[in-house]
Amino acid sequence: MTSPTKPDGWSSRLGVILAVAGSAIGLGNFLRFPGQAAQNGGGTFMLPYFAALLFLGIPLCWAEWTMGRYGGLRGFHSAPGIYATLWRRPIAKYFGVLPLLIPLVVYMYYVVIEAWCLGYAWSYLTGGLSLGDDPKTYVDYFARYVGQSADGSLLSREGAPLMITLAVVFLLNLLLIYRGLAAGIEKFCNFALPLMAVLAVVVLVRVLTLGAPDPAHPEQNVSAGLGFMWNPSEGRSFEALLDPKTWIAAAGQIFFSLGVGFGIIINYSSYTRKKDDIVLSGLTAASMNEFFEVCLGGLITIPAAFVFLGTSIAGMGTFGLGFNALPNVFARMPGGEFFGALWFFMLFLAAITSSIAMLHPVATFFQEGLGLRPRTAFTLLGFVSALGCAHVVYYSKDMLALDTMDFWVGTFLIVTLALFQAILYGWILGTERGAVEAHRGAHLRIPGFVQWVLKYVSPVYLAVMVGWYFVVSVIGTDEQPGYAKTLAESRVAQLTLALIAALALMFTVMIFIAGRRWTAAGRLPADLQTTSSQTPGDAI
Ligand code: ALA
Repeated sequence: MTSPTKPDGWSSRLGVILAVAGSAIGLGNFLRFPGQAAQNGGGTFMLPYFAALLFLGIPLCWAEWTMGRYGGLRGFHSAPGIYATLWRRPIAKYFGVLPLLIPLVVYMYYVVIEAWCLGYAWSYLTGGLSLGDDPKTYVDYFARYVGQSADGSLLSREGAPLMITLAVVFLLNLLLIYRGLAAGIEKFCNFALPLMAVLAVVVLVRVLTLGAPDPAHPEQNVSAGLGFMWNPSEGRSFEALLDPKTWIAAAGQIFFSLGVGFGIIINYSSYTRKKDDIVLSGLTAASMNEFFEVCLGGLITIPAAFVFLGTSIAGMGTFGLGFNALPNVFARMPGGEFFGALWFFMLFLAAITSSIAMLHPVATFFQEGLGLRPRTAFTLLGFVSALGCAHVVYYSKDMLALDTMDFWVGTFLIVTLALFQAILYGWILGTERGAVEAHRGAHLRIPGFVQWVLKYVSPVYLAVMVGWYFVVSVIGTDEQPGYAKTLAESRVAQLTLALIAALALMFTVMIFIAGRRWTAAGRLPADLQTTSSQTPGDAI
């Protein structure tokens, strides 16, 4: 096989760690995590959460880092090529549809939420969110801002602020990845991550020093708020632990947050060098993500909302907490406008370091697989992602398009891809070879049991999760209908799924073309069958 054709790469080890951490730290850490914990038993949630982190999240991260570098050393940086080097069967590359489809589709709605965050930060700075302390005002403001009342409502004058912000954010994302890994993504993350930490700590200090701000409700104080988030929910902690839903929710949170099964880590790590310590880098990036999630996200969002709004915040979803409850909290807090601006700007930074990571795998594939020149590849990427964004923005009623993408791709397909990658690592590359590959240049040893976990426990756990989502969330029950019902009844859900299917088809055709190009160029042998004398990795 030929050597890498693309000169792009990371300029330092810290650079790749911060970029991977930046891709992981996002809205999931500050909004999704507190919401999930509060809805699933508070402190009780943390047991399945840490179990999922240790037995699924971190091992699967190491597996992705290993497979990514393995493919990168053989000249491939996009998942279809990487899979083809790992599993020498013609069909292997077609599994690469998922790690292209997932980041692209998640990007299509994630970038819209990112624009909400920047828009809110701007409104705080310019006084547009000084709306008094009636909670309903903030609910109405948000509904208008995101066009919840009717499809197409954002195309009116009222939607202009969001549309302008979205255009700015969208172009900024493209510009950052166009500049390349080192000059664009790495440089930006080097500055954005420390800034996010500083901003989050400033807001944290403000929240932890609030005391009991409402004299009429002395019981709504900071320590009770921390207890609300962290204590096992009264009387039902054991019940929550026995409920499979808690375990599935915890593992789902770990996947979304760490970015496992997104197709991002495998792409970023493919640019690491043979002697880089990917074991330590992978662990450091995952630990940074956990610090932001548990220590910052877990200490800010719920306690802040609790001291002002009390137990009414329980069961509020991610957006309810982030865009209804918290603006109301900032309205009642001394210096709230300043802290509101800091908070939403910090959320914007967290989101953009994740969204650039979602675009990069597709940009890489367009160049590596189709042979497009960077400018053409980025134009095509801009066009396709703008199409998806336009779909989300147009079908804004009840956020149905966003929600449909988030379930089918941002939840269901992520776990499906993680399952495929666990099998690829554990059974096709093989854990013995995997351990050898992972430890090239490593000073830290992965404990032996992790390979066993990756081979046996992770695939079973993930298969159960895929089955669970299918039975509970897709099929559902009479009392709690699943997405199948939404799909049968809603034209928007049908259109959204059709869009996802069309993108999947597009990537399948492109991978077919890429496969022919790679074979013709001698980058993949025409016969990809593995023989006993040539196991994966022998070429290097
Ligand atoms: N991992 C990213 C987040 O947590 C997608 O938001």
